[in-house]
Amino acid sequence: MRTIRTILELREALRDSGDVGLVPTMGAFHEGHLSLFRAARAESETVVASLFVNPAQFADTADLERYPRDEERDAQLAEAEGVDVLFAPSADELYPPGFQTWVEVEELSRGLEGTFRPGHFRGVATVCLKLFNIVRPRRAYFGQKDAQQAAVLRRMAADLDLDLELRVLPTVRDADGLALSSRNVLLSPEDRARGLTLPRALHAGAAADDPVGTALAALDGLEVDYVAVADFDPRVLAGAVRVGSTRLIDNVPLEGAKQ
Ligand code: PAF
Repeated sequence: MRTIRTILELREALRDSGDVGLVPTMGAFHEGHLSLFRAARAESETVVASLFVNPAQFADTADLERYPRDEERDAQLAEAEGVDVLFAPSADELYPPGFQTWVEVEELSRGLEGTFRPGHFRGVATVCLKLFNIVRPRRAYFGQKDAQQAAVLRRMAADLDLDLELRVLPTVRDADGLALSSRNVLLSPEDRARGLTLPRALHAGAAADDPVGTALAALDGLEVDYVAVADFDPRVLAGAVRVGSTRLIDNVPLEGAKQ
């Protein structure tokens, strides 16, 4: 596996690379990322993983600074899954001085995460469009845990006529049900135990006649940002809570949904 840090070098490396699968990431890999690498490896001639903690999608600098980073470990894990190229640019490489062009997926970026993380999806859409332009993948891989992100990116790909397929793979969970997230390493054992209430509440809600009311009742005592039915593809019951200084998000597909 090659680690590449500049756009020029990456374009050169991908010149005759055939069918490319791209897995955009912010690093701190867990089984969820590995499942995306495996899917990309199974379907692509060349697999590129990007590793970039994108400042543009963090409204809060403290949140950006405490985001877990371990490039050496990430590189080993990616290589073991057959990733060919790890693209790990600096912030200046992607946002050079004078940068001022942003992608705004208007309606889908509002509500849910958009309410609590202003500007987040503008940062996500912009960096993903840049990565798609730089790597020119046939397919790009994302996790269903970030259901709103997947919906925003699908809309952007359709609206801007991007010539690629977006693959959204199921959420990978720990044995106890907690959705894997790079931020989970920031949880104390007590906060982790409290955070487990979120998947349990969402699963209980998804099986009930009143999904939102049932999930909210099960989350009583936790700091809840939202619980809502979201009409994405698939339709999901989504929620976000705060445990300690960490925010957890999760969603489960609703009855009748395709997934
Ligand atoms: O899901 C993520 O890790 C990020 O939002 C992404 C898609 C890599 C863009 O920075």
